[in-house]
Amino acid sequence: MHRKRILSGIQPSGNLHLGNYFGMMKRMIEYQETNELFCFLVNYHAITTITNSELLRQNTFKAACDFLALGLDPDKAIFWVQSDVPEVTELTWLLNNTTSIGLLERAHSYKDKIAKGFRPNHGLFSYPVLMAADILLFGGEAVPVGKDQKQHLEITRDIAIRFNKTFGETFIIPESLIENDTGLIPGIDGQKMSKSYKNTIEIFCEKDVLAKKVMSIITDKTPIDEPKETENSTLFQVYSLFLNDEDKKELEDRFRTPGLEYGKVKKELIEIIWNYFNPYRIKREELLNDKFYVVKILKEGAEKARSVGKSFLELARKNVGLNYQE
Ligand code: TRP
Repeated sequence: MHRKRILSGIQPSGNLHLGNYFGMMKRMIEYQETNELFCFLVNYHAITTITNSELLRQNTFKAACDFLALGLDPDKAIFWVQSDVPEVTELTWLLNNTTSIGLLERAHSYKDKIAKGFRPNHGLFSYPVLMAADILLFGGEAVPVGKDQKQHLEITRDIAIRFNKTFGETFIIPESLIENDTGLIPGIDGQKMSKSYKNTIEIFCEKDVLAKKVMSIITDKTPIDEPKETENSTLFQVYSLFLNDEDKKELEDRFRTPGLEYGKVKKELIEIIWNYFNPYRIKREELLNDKFYVVKILKEGAEKARSVGKSFLELARKNVGLNYQE
């Protein structure tokens, strides 16, 4: 049976949080058992918003440690840092020519950033083209991303289809893999969990920081002796991330039964989150202290990725006519 090539990247733009974990990391770690898995840290993308070089270096290394600590296995998956395969920037240039400006102007994430007051640079504008190159260079067939990235995936497909039409069959057209139940993970204020909204719960933080964040999850003003809503409850949604169907049903019943105190539920949730990630904390500390080993894994991953990328890039170069010597 054909094992689909699954590929996805994550920005090392800050400490990784529950949105990153449930939206992408956890699923990627599961896919390594059943699929051909390509996983990378997109530091070229991160420089569209981070201008502190030391911070970028640290975030990239920490994100690698987080992923490995949580179970990404370099013997099963190809794992690397985007800038270690600089061919992706060459492909970006080729793809620029089959990307319409209008397509990029319609990108929600670009429009959001501008609305938030970012002074847009060209890097931010062409972010989706680099993302398309990330996917197309390695022949990714399926891309697990959070709901917020769906439009970026559509842009990738559009660019690839147009490239194939213009220059001849070159790229595989990828599909997005979005799971409904983990489609959108809310942050403590109820909006999508995102570093730029400052509403994240980090995967690895001190327990008092975790407690403070969980205690400040937004709740409604339903009196204690009335049944509580689950549908639009951020607390219920975040708690559910850690439950199987049966336990989720039980929590739903508790919410519906008068008497439930949000404060008590939050205290439980602190322990649940802490215990869930506890087994990975020691491993993460070890990795943070063993830079040599982590870098070796990333460099080996980059070599493997590069050898796959080379053939797609060669074909693209030939199809646009850069092979003048022939
Ligand atoms: N834009 C993605 C995000 O912010 C990260 C990303 C970059 C990505 N390149 C990718 C995801 C390629 C999937 C495939 O989440």
